[in-house]
Amino acid sequence: MEIRVFDTAEQVGQAAAVLLAAQLLRKPDSVLGLATGSSPIPTYTCLIDLNRRGVVDFSQVTTFNLDEYVGIPESHECSYHRFMNEQLFSHVNIRREAIHVPDGNAPNLEESAAAYDEAIRKAGGIDVQLLGIGRNGHIGFNEPSTQFIYGCHVVSLSDSTIDANKRFFASEADVPRQAVSLGIGSIMNARQVLLIATGSDKADAVRRAIREDVNPQIQASILRTHPDAVFLLDRAAAAQL
Ligand code: GLP
Repeated sequence: MEIRVFDTAEQVGQAAAVLLAAQLLRKPDSVLGLATGSSPIPTYTCLIDLNRRGVVDFSQVTTFNLDEYVGIPESHECSYHRFMNEQLFSHVNIRREAIHVPDGNAPNLEESAAAYDEAIRKAGGIDVQLLGIGRNGHIGFNEPSTQFIYGCHVVSLSDSTIDANKRFFASEADVPRQAVSLGIGSIMNARQVLLIATGSDKADAVRRAIREDVNPQIQASILRTHPDAVFLLDRAAAAQL
């Protein structure tokens, strides 16, 4: 695992965007695993700019998002479908049919989650997986647990995650209690993983992920066993290392 520390969140975003741009130059039909949350926004802003300037081309790219809430419509202002459209997809030359986000409204959520893993496998696997990290060390919506869950699955959100994410909703009661998330196996199968953490809120989770034994109470700790995982941190997130 490699750790790179930058002064600001914008610099972290630029560094992640440069790594993704290099990946697309090497392999224009790359499969990208994408994340939501505030952490990757500077990366997406930078990628949109590189796309406008003709440096990055999304025309052959396929994407799979990490997770989605259960039970809110795709048009809901907090849905991850909508987030991705607003923060990236509607601004770049990606083919609509190449975009995949877990379906949080499928009639059979478990079947739909299994089909999502199968679609990733059929696409050739994820080349680069972008990740944020929760304050409790979660990646995707893989919450602290006694185990690492392998495949895409339905998750009950922890109180800590509901508390962290309520800022996006009208009230805490409106935060969905469940989500669909790629599993740890799906994430670890990516050829490269880029984890972005910025701000002092993430310093404790980053320290635990890097310094504690690999254990499912801090799900991001598993990334230390990945052959090509890069932690991109700003000074505030790296403060406890
Ligand atoms: C959510 C998402 C995660 C994300 C985390 C951190 O819970 N499911 O994928 O990494 O929030 O979000 P933020 O970057 O806004 O702190």
